[in-house]
Amino acid sequence: MENESLRTFYVTTPIYYANSLPHLGHLYTMIVADAVHRYKEQRGVETYFLTGTDEHGINIERAAERAGRTPQQQADYVVDYYKEMTAQFALDTEHGGYDIFMRTTYPFHAEGVSKFWREVAKSRTPKGRDAIYKGHYEGWFCAPCAAYKTEDEFIKPGHAGESPLCMIHETPLDRVSEESYFFRLSDYGEALIELYESRPDFIRPDSRRNEVMSFVQGGLQDLSVSRVRSSVKWGIPVPDDSSHSIYVWFDALTNYITAVGYGNEERERAVGFEKFWPALHLVGKDILRFHAVYWPAFLMAAGVEQPLAIIAHGMWVDQAGRKMSKTLGNTVELDVLHKHFSIDAIRYFCLREMVFGQDGRFGYEALIDRTNSDLASGLGNLSSRTLTMINRYAESSVPSGIISEEKLLLAKRSGIDTDETTVAGFIEHARDQYLQLFDSFSFSRALEVAWSVVARSDKMISDAKPWDLAKDENQRETLNAVLYRAAESLRWLCVLLYPVMPQATQGIYTQLGFTGSAGAVDPGELKWGGLAVGQKIGEVKPLFPRIDKGKTMDEIKNPVPHATEAEAVANAPAAAATKPEPPQQGATEADAVEGVTSFIEIGDFAKVEMKVGEVLTAERIPKADKLLLLTIDVGETQPRQVLAGIAQYYEPSALVGKKVVVVANLKPRKLRGYESQGMVVAASIGEEGRPVIATFTEDVPNGARLK
Ligand code: MSP
Repeated sequence: MENESLRTFYVTTPIYYANSLPHLGHLYTMIVADAVHRYKEQRGVETYFLTGTDEHGINIERAAERAGRTPQQQADYVVDYYKEMTAQFALDTEHGGYDIFMRTTYPFHAEGVSKFWREVAKSRTPKGRDAIYKGHYEGWFCAPCAAYKTEDEFIKPGHAGESPLCMIHETPLDRVSEESYFFRLSDYGEALIELYESRPDFIRPDSRRNEVMSFVQGGLQDLSVSRVRSSVKWGIPVPDDSSHSIYVWFDALTNYITAVGYGNEERERAVGFEKFWPALHLVGKDILRFHAVYWPAFLMAAGVEQPLAIIAHGMWVDQAGRKMSKTLGNTVELDVLHKHFSIDAIRYFCLREMVFGQDGRFGYEALIDRTNSDLASGLGNLSSRTLTMINRYAESSVPSGIISEEKLLLAKRSGIDTDETTVAGFIEHARDQYLQLFDSFSFSRALEVAWSVVARSDKMISDAKPWDLAKDENQRETLNAVLYRAAESLRWLCVLLYPVMPQATQGIYTQLGFTGSAGAVDPGELKWGGLAVGQKIGEVKPLFPRIDKGKTMDEIKNPVPHATEAEAVANAPAAAATKPEPPQQGATEADAVEGVTSFIEIGDFAKVEMKVGEVLTAERIPKADKLLLLTIDVGETQPRQVLAGIAQYYEPSALVGKKVVVVANLKPRKLRGYESQGMVVAASIGEEGRPVIATFTEDVPNGARLK
């Protein structure tokens, strides 16, 4: 990471749309940014780390409408979830994570965006024309992308009269034709190429830089940067023309500067635009164009310094190679991850498994295998055997690693390298490589290098066999040297790996007897021999328990409820688990038939309006671990919002696209502040009333009535 001489460093993740809840893809960028942030701090650079939410625009408006909320309530709801999630994954400020959770609904942001717009609007392009002008836009707009799509970015419709589909989301595009302000992007092509050429590190990795270069070389079209307020109400008004809302990407990108104080003196004093800008932007490759083309052009126009760099990572994809996304319903849910894996195992896996810049395939089995092999059997085992041996053979304090002249020959015979400088040289070289790789975002390779240190220590122990050395008093110095080297290597590993696994490395560091933080030691400053002889080691505790693969996979695939959860399911208004009603008053003996508590007339049944519905979205509800919030298309103009007490039994993503049966004329009820406009029908299985949703074996249209 460049500019080691810089006093400050500013790293950002994208700000995430507040229309849906996060999944592994979102968590991933945060983990990368968090690791970079901790690493920079460790190296003595004052660092500011931003993440947050992108809260304006048509998508949020639509999501809010579907959920029966105002856009602000929708944003608050998603932000609550994000805050809870980031705390669970130790990414929030309290755990040493982000410095700001930025929200585009903060008033200081609106102030900054207005200032930025004004600066752009009064500027001239490199060709001497107005940077912003008013015109008319007609085109295909993808609401989930919040972007207009050109022909090469959409799937052409199968039939005349149908809308094309977005290539990313595979959902229909909207035809939009309206007055709009335009940013004269077409005048910035040469200036952008000059920027990319003068700063080869500006966009990374190189493959992405080349893509952006050829996109710009292909010629740029002007960009619509406003929507009429009658189409998009939920946005920051264009300064001096409140009949337009600022385009959500113009608004969102600007957050990177408003967050630190651009356009707001109070913020400037509290954080400091001057102090922290320019930032390093970490983004998924899906949104690289916005960051590497539009954003630099806006900044040029406004006369603001360019970002430090834009680093694009690959996507987590499913087994079919499709990008993990809510729309496709193929996401890895964060609560499942959190329930079964330690935070550090997830962090390690993300950084080790995805070769930075390339796409990565996620699998729970791969996560379990990595956790067991690299962490439980690898680092964890090295740490516990080293510390246990110090307890056993050196009375729980770090012994001296020096081998006297007269014992050298004996030591050599036991298979250890008697020249300690070779040992020190190996680890110093590994450290240098590791830092260089970390600096260039090659986390996976950096971790491979760290694990070469683990392997070398392991080998030294297996070769020297301390348990045999301990039986021979003449080999006491050799034994001590093995213990010292293993413990000292462990100290280095704690410091190096701290940004990747802050909790576990701190655990080992404390067990090594340190009272401070591994995060406070600059890995560049590590010197062999820094571990003090005589240091008392702490209590040895396992840090990476082995995961039982079969059992965990089974639990992930078939989550098991416990009694109280089952009760809640039965009590949830939309839950299908209906308890048998007591016999109704007036029912006679003759009415009693096996399995039936009472009969109803056909007219009674006709009163129940059951319809076929398609689940459009499914989300968990913060602080209500039993409930899922579903939106279901039952063939009406608006989808229904339905609550179902099935969160313990169904993965939200598994429900999206499912055809279900909805009791459509059930009186709406409120639960946990959300209105439930119907009920999903399910069988109730076993003692605990496990719900199994009723569905269809044939394709049925939404809204079809069940009779
Ligand atoms: N709101 C915009 C970003 C504005 S930034 C000024 C947006 N939001 S998003 O919610 O769609 O998040 C996009 C980002 O989430 C991606 O760029 C990436 O960082 C992360 N990911 C979302 N899905 C992902 C994967 N399947 N894999 C890896 N990261 C992904 O776009």
